[in-house]
Amino acid sequence: MRMTELIHKKREGGALSAEELHFLIENYTNGTIPDYQMSAFAMAVYFRGMTEEETVILTQEMMQSGDTVDLSLFGKLSADKHSTGGVGDKTTLIVAPIVATLGGKVAKMSGRGLGHTGGTVDKLESIPGFRTELSPEDFLRQVQEVGVAVIGQTGNLTPADKKLYALRDVTDTVDSLPLIASSIMSKKLAAGSQNIVLDVKVGSGAFLTKEEDARALAEQMVSIGKACGRNIRALLTNMDIPLGQNIGNALEVMEAVNVLRGRGCEDLTEVCVALATQLVSLVQNIPAQEAKTMVEDCIHSGKAFETMKKWVSAQGGNAQALEDFTLLPQASCTVEVLAPHSGYLTAMDTRMVGEASVFLGAGRSKKDDPIDYGAGIVLQKKTGDYAEKGECLAVLYCNDSAFVPNAQRRFLEAITWGDTPNAKSPLIFGIVG
Ligand code: URA
Repeated sequence: MRMTELIHKKREGGALSAEELHFLIENYTNGTIPDYQMSAFAMAVYFRGMTEEETVILTQEMMQSGDTVDLSLFGKLSADKHSTGGVGDKTTLIVAPIVATLGGKVAKMSGRGLGHTGGTVDKLESIPGFRTELSPEDFLRQVQEVGVAVIGQTGNLTPADKKLYALRDVTDTVDSLPLIASSIMSKKLAAGSQNIVLDVKVGSGAFLTKEEDARALAEQMVSIGKACGRNIRALLTNMDIPLGQNIGNALEVMEAVNVLRGRGCEDLTEVCVALATQLVSLVQNIPAQEAKTMVEDCIHSGKAFETMKKWVSAQGGNAQALEDFTLLPQASCTVEVLAPHSGYLTAMDTRMVGEASVFLGAGRSKKDDPIDYGAGIVLQKKTGDYAEKGECLAVLYCNDSAFVPNAQRRFLEAITWGDTPNAKSPLIFGIVG
């Protein structure tokens, strides 16, 4: 088999066979197929697409290109969630202990923040002592005993995707639906959970801004998961507005605790309840309505918060910091952003709000940049609210006041003003699966 033939076949709109896809991924991973040929292939896929069958096989080949996690020990109870990324998205910190309290075994690998979006691993590491590297044995033992463990990506998981994703990034072939779906799902399948809920974000803070694109991606990922024998659903959720009020690592931990103590803001609580409901419904094989009641009870009884404390302690974190926020990293400098005039906030460019938070030190511009765990933004007004001139729109938190002017400018640029409020958009656009 020759790579030039595969490129030609795809360029002409043909569908690759299972043998051809196996050849492609095996030889790209081991370096026999060079990047320049794979780039041509990715561009052909970008223009010609892939059939559903090809996408499933490509995903399986990428999943099998490296290590896979064996969670068979947990039978049908293993559970995972995945978010396509957003601003203020601390849902894993809330959903994981809820699902664990209700019998799920949450064995999760998460990522770090990059660009304007945050990452769960960074948020967890803002808790003093929290370790996101565990040996495979400790990881499984903790899931068995506590019901939840969340670590950074370890081992040699999906090396084919790692290589191909980096290549797509520099050849403008990222936004091809079959390539995105197979990339995300190869990692989820390799991580081993039987039950998976995907949170596909839509809007100015997400990497897909249009609902129809997000729905098409969700449908492809759900169909790949089902074809590979997993129980899977996807929620399409609104990222045209930051989720909750707090953006930044320690600030988001505080907000997650508030939700688990029944004092969280409405939008964040609603999205977390919806995600946890779907995951509990899959794990326990019960109707969503029944699962929702269990999820709400588990928050109100304080049981989910107790699980969060056990989880944090098990990974070396100071659980006392979840009761006493002064033990979390703090910012030495706080600055209020004031409304430059009166009016309604009719839109917030959520990517720009995320960027303002990165400017304060809460995120990274480059992969290895250090993070200031205490930095971030607490929103006082969001889309739909009215502000009088001089009223506080947000409080900026940082440890270097030199960062403030840029962050403040970017935050104010993010806001569109109007004389009347817009109709409220839904938080959840739909469920697929
Ligand atoms: N996230 C991924 O993991 N892969 C993609 O292709 C796009 C987003």
